[in-house]
Amino acid sequence: MHVAIINIKGLVGIRNDQKLFLRGAEMKSLTTINNAFLICKDGLIDSYGKMDNFSSNDNYDKTIDAKGRFVLPTWCDSHTHLVYATNREGEFVDRINGLTYQDIANKGGGILNSAKKLALKSEDDLYESANARLNLVKSLGTGAIEIKTGYGLSFEAELKMLRVINKLKNESNIAIKSTLLAAHAIPEKYKNNRADYIYVIINEILPEVSKQNLADYIDVFCETNYFTVPEMIEILEAGTHYGLKPKVHVNQFTSIGGIDAAVKHHALSVDHLEEMKEKDYRALTNSNTSATLLPSCSFFLGIPFAPARDLINKNAIVTLASDYNPGSTPSGNMNFVISLACIKQKMFPEEAINAATLNGAYAMDLSHEYGSIEIGKKASIIITKPISSLAYLPYSFGENNIEETLIL
Ligand code: NIG
Ligand code: FE
Repeated sequence: MHVAIINIKGLVGIRNDQKLFLRGAEMKSLTTINNAFLICKDGLIDSYGKMDNFSSNDNYDKTIDAKGRFVLPTWCDSHTHLVYATNREGEFVDRINGLTYQDIANKGGGILNSAKKLALKSEDDLYESANARLNLVKSLGTGAIEIKTGYGLSFEAELKMLRVINKLKNESNIAIKSTLLAAHAIPEKYKNNRADYIYVIINEILPEVSKQNLADYIDVFCETNYFTVPEMIEILEAGTHYGLKPKVHVNQFTSIGGIDAAVKHHALSVDHLEEMKEKDYRALTNSNTSATLLPSCSFFLGIPFAPARDLINKNAIVTLASDYNPGSTPSGNMNFVISLACIKQKMFPEEAINAATLNGAYAMDLSHEYGSIEIGKKASIIITKPISSLAYLPYSFGENNIEETLIL
C-alpha cells in the first residue's frame, strides 16, 4: 500500500537523529514542517517534505488531503490495565462520600474486588470487553500500548489475563506489550502468609509465563500496604532471571525507596511518582529509566500530580501514560492526559507530546519503530480534525480532535 497525505497544515514530531528518548531540556524539541506531505509505503514512513517539493507523478493507492489538519505520530501509552471484568462505579461514589482509595482497599474493595470479579469471567468475555476498550483508545489516537495483568492474583487467573493480552496482540494492528503484575496486591487467601504468595509468583507463575513466552515485563506495586521494597527486589530479580525487564508502580501514595531500588535493577520505567523525596529525584537524574507520569490517575483520585517540571529540570526522561484501569483511572484517553500534563503539571505542549509519543514508545522498547515521524518507522499516525494550532490539542481538553488513527 502506497499512501500520500498532502496539504498537511503541520507535520509534527519529525526526527532524523534516531534518538530513542528525550530527556530534560531536549523534550522541548518537536520539529514541525508546515504545509507538508507524508508518503507511507508498505506500512512504513517512506518520505516527507514541504508541499512545494511534492511530486504527484507517482501512482499512489490512496491520496489523503489533510488541509487544515495536523499529522503526528500515534500516542504510545506505556501503562494500562485495560483487561478487567467490571467497572467500579460503587467505589467512585464511596469516594464522593469521603472514603479514600486506601480506605476502600482496606475494606476489601479496590484491586481485590476486581480480582474477585475477574475470576468469574470467561476468557472470551474478557477478550471482548478489552478489545472494545482497545478500539476506543485507538480511535482516540493510541497506536502502541502496554497492558498489565494484576487482577488475577492466582496462577490460573494471571495466566488467563496473559492469554487475553496475547490474543489482543495477535489480532490487533496496534503494537502491544504485556506485563506480568501478579504482585499487584496480596490476595485475601495469603493475607497472613504473604511470603507464600511471593513464593507462588516466583516459583509457579513466572516459570510458566516464561515457558509459554507470555510476558515482556515484570511489574510490582511497591507501596505501603502492598509490596515492600525488599519484596519488590526479590520479584524483579526473579523476573529478570526469566528475561522480563522491570517496569514498576512506585511512589503513588508514599515514598519508601522503590525508585532507587528499581533504577538499580535496571527498570525500563518507574511509574506514578506522585510522592517524591530528594533521594527519588537523585535516582532519576540522568538515568535511562523512564519517569512515567499518570496525570489522569491524580485527577480521578484527587491525589497530587507528579512533579513533571522538577523531573525535567533534573534531566529525567519524562513519559506520559494513561493508567487506564477500573479503580484509579477509568479512561485511556491520551488526549486528556496531555491536557492534564499541560494544565496541572505545567508541561509545554511540545514536551507533553514528546512524552506521550517518543518517550512512551521508549518505555515499551518500541522507539526504534514508533513515536516519531522518521523514515523507516511504522506508518502509525494521527490525523487531527481541522484545528487552529498544535497547542489547541492540549488546550481544548475534553474535545475529540482526532479525525483518524491511521495504521498502515
Ligand atoms: O496504577 N496503583 C496500582 N494499580 C492501579 C490501580 C488499580 C486499581 O485500583 O484497580 C494504578 O493506579
Ligand atoms: Fe497502574
